[in-house]
Amino acid sequence: MQAVILVGGEGTRLRPLTYGTPKPMVPLFGVPFLERTLGRLRAAGVEEAILASGYLPQAIRDHFGDGERIGMRLTYVVEETPLGTAGAIRNVADKITGTFFVLNGDVLGSLDLRAMLNFHRLKDGIGTLHAIRVEDPSPFGCIVHDRAARVTEFVEKPPRDDAPTDEINAGTYLLEPDVLDAIPAGRAVSIERETFPQLLASGAKLYSYVTADYWLDVGRPAQYLQAHFDVLDGKLSLDVPGSGIAERGTFWQTSGRHHGAGRVNAPSFIGLDVTIDSSAEVGPYAVLGADCYVGPDAFVRDSVLWDGVEVEAGARIADAILASNVRVGTAAVVESGAVIGHDAVIPPNLVLSPDARVSASAEGPGAQAV
Ligand code: GTP
Repeated sequence: MQAVILVGGEGTRLRPLTYGTPKPMVPLFGVPFLERTLGRLRAAGVEEAILASGYLPQAIRDHFGDGERIGMRLTYVVEETPLGTAGAIRNVADKITGTFFVLNGDVLGSLDLRAMLNFHRLKDGIGTLHAIRVEDPSPFGCIVHDRAARVTEFVEKPPRDDAPTDEINAGTYLLEPDVLDAIPAGRAVSIERETFPQLLASGAKLYSYVTADYWLDVGRPAQYLQAHFDVLDGKLSLDVPGSGIAERGTFWQTSGRHHGAGRVNAPSFIGLDVTIDSSAEVGPYAVLGADCYVGPDAFVRDSVLWDGVEVEAGARIADAILASNVRVGTAAVVESGAVIGHDAVIPPNLVLSPDARVSASAEGPGAQAV
């Protein structure tokens, strides 16, 4: 069994995090997002994953190599120019040998992939699309189907009050190789907006596999934070090596190798070799990567800090994402949806405005609006 994973997007909505890290490599509790996806595929019996990449592909290849470490065969295909979600699949057509999964690289979920495969085989269509119910379908592509689960209509981003269904395309598909013939080669094609509607119009059998699983598209900062909070709340179990996080649900957890006696409010996650000053306060809902430092009287809550972040004395971090090696100066305030890119330095006493985006300057360290 094979899977094509779409990992070629630029991840513009997660900038500046994605300036240095392609979205699939953005960490979730210190582990690249894609690693979890690959682990789930392997557990479902998928032996080969074809990574349809284009944006910062080397970062993915450097981490996973040929896949031996994770027990899978990995094949990398790099697009010269972005081919879109269907164009990327067409581009790997010569590597497809049978029924295959397609996964968006940025979906966090608990879908039972084997059960979906059983459903696909039972229905015997050309494609099965995973769908989930959401409260507000208006930002998504909706899938309408009949009582036998056969898709009858796709409705892209309907007005909330006028939506024909609350079931949306969740970005995981099972496809037969025949689908490849329906995608024109050599140009950008969207599977959601072009290929699926065309297949439907031609009478092809597409089925909707609706589940009530956990599902989150982590491609936006608020959702990226939410993913961490949901794991801390036990809404989704996640296997973080050496942490016991999967068994605990709501918890605060340390590696046993952190230093200092600062207060940590549950639920929070503290990575390896973190130092928290005895007068600092961390949590609730703080996720600190390895080697982070939180200084005297500083506090961090409702935030995700990647590895090596330094929060100096009296600084305040809330509702923010800080990428690797960010330094927050004394008494600076980073709150309300701020996203800070790799190696940026927030000067002392600076109060960032809500939803600030800051990346390190090209010439050297310093805070710069994106
Ligand atoms: P934004 O720029 O923030 O919209 O993110 P994105 O570029 O990742 O786009 P989007 O979230 O819509 O993409 C959904 C999935 O398809 C992601 O896993 C992307 O990596 C992937 N993807 C999007 N466009 C392409 C493409 O042209 N080629 C490939 N190979 N993958 C793509």
